[in-house]
Amino acid sequence: MSTTPIAYQRCISPTCGATYDVREVRVACGRCGDLLDVVYDWDRAAPPRKLSDLEARWARRREPSCYSGVWRFHQLLPFCPPDQIVTVGEGQTLFQQADAVARYVDVRPGRLYLQYEGMNPSGSFKDNGMSAAFTHARMTGAQRAACASTGNTSASLAMYCAVTRLMKAVIFIGSGKISYGKLSQALDYGALTVQIAGDFDDAMMRVREVCSELGIYLVNSINPFRLEGQKSIMFRVLEALSWEPPDWIVVPGGNLGNSSAFGKAFAELHTLGLIPRVPRLAIINAAGADTLYQLYDQRGMRWQDGAPPMAISDEYFARMDAEQLKASTIASAIEINRPVNFRKCLRALQTCDGVVRRVTDQEIMDAKAQVGAGGVGCEPASAASVAGARLLRAEGIIGADERVVCILTGHQLKDPTATVAYHTTDQDQFNKILGSRGVRRASFANRAVAVPNDLGEIMKAIRLYS
Ligand code: F0G
Repeated sequence: MSTTPIAYQRCISPTCGATYDVREVRVACGRCGDLLDVVYDWDRAAPPRKLSDLEARWARRREPSCYSGVWRFHQLLPFCPPDQIVTVGEGQTLFQQADAVARYVDVRPGRLYLQYEGMNPSGSFKDNGMSAAFTHARMTGAQRAACASTGNTSASLAMYCAVTRLMKAVIFIGSGKISYGKLSQALDYGALTVQIAGDFDDAMMRVREVCSELGIYLVNSINPFRLEGQKSIMFRVLEALSWEPPDWIVVPGGNLGNSSAFGKAFAELHTLGLIPRVPRLAIINAAGADTLYQLYDQRGMRWQDGAPPMAISDEYFARMDAEQLKASTIASAIEINRPVNFRKCLRALQTCDGVVRRVTDQEIMDAKAQVGAGGVGCEPASAASVAGARLLRAEGIIGADERVVCILTGHQLKDPTATVAYHTTDQDQFNKILGSRGVRRASFANRAVAVPNDLGEIMKAIRLYS
């Protein structure tokens, strides 16, 4: 019997390629400091022969690991024994054909789909990755877990700790940088919440130091096991399309975990001969947090098979430091200037022949209103995907006949302040919350109608407006 493990960790740098045991806790290569992948010996891992074989597990959905929208694809992320799986029922998401949004984006009806990750137990896509990170943490016997967060990772971490009681949660947030919907979750679920004077990028740097000093398990997407769970978002998209790849996947870009995970999922499926072709990937930055756009689109940085010209990004970040540039966008979830998965994301862009765009806060809020009007609301960051698809369509990069899947990463109720400010009648309120972020007008506002408490007046208003 072979002693090499089926799953192990490996440095993503082809010139290094150091490997580590699957049970080791690390978020960077010990030799060169680069990011790590979870890698499989597929000849021994027994992947499905065809993707539709995976459907058999749904018939066994009384078993929690077959019900989970992550773990019913266990054969495609086989890093753990089945009895170690941690699941709280994540990944029961909605895939919706959205013709009204298709009209807004200007693709043909029937060609635009929304993959709604807000249905997850903590209300965002993070639960896909958190169930995998918790599974790994359990394999390693970790007692405490931490993250820096713009709000959703922390909500997810806090929820998994509260439900499973496997670990204690420590979360780091920037001051004033997190929407109340998300903060309320972490507080309710009992996480130790550390608010530091700074933004997400500052908090991310600190949490790495704290975790390595105190031996706390880090669950940010720099953790390669998180990304294994997030691959399942693509498995569910493919499943919903009867296993036929769409033409485009459009996703907001923040710390670049999703885009990196999607690229890895498609690379593996293609290598295994399970999909005939890889969809194209469009990653959408907010204009006020556009590092990837600047480096990939404007400065032409490419993965170059593992040898990207890092001098370009080094210089970019040095200038960012010198000028003390801070990320700023209404889409607080993606208010990030130093994406930790940048190098993996470049690789994903190569795998998926990707493009990167940026959209303004105005475009984000208008797209969000269009998504909401279709009945599946989302938080501002999520709507960057729809705004980005619209821009790429206007540029002619996306064709009117192409099949486009926009990922809606978080629930509408995560950030009601932004939504109400957009729709409000109160111009002062609007200006206070949105004006300073560059949103000048609410193009699709659904204003509340103020009426006196008088039956006649109320009926008059209803006749007038309905
Ligand atoms: N959309 C939402 C709703 C998010 O919460 C995030 C990230 C992203 C998009 C960006 O995803 O990092 O994979 O590119 N939120 C993190 C957090 C940073 O702390 O909750 P990414």
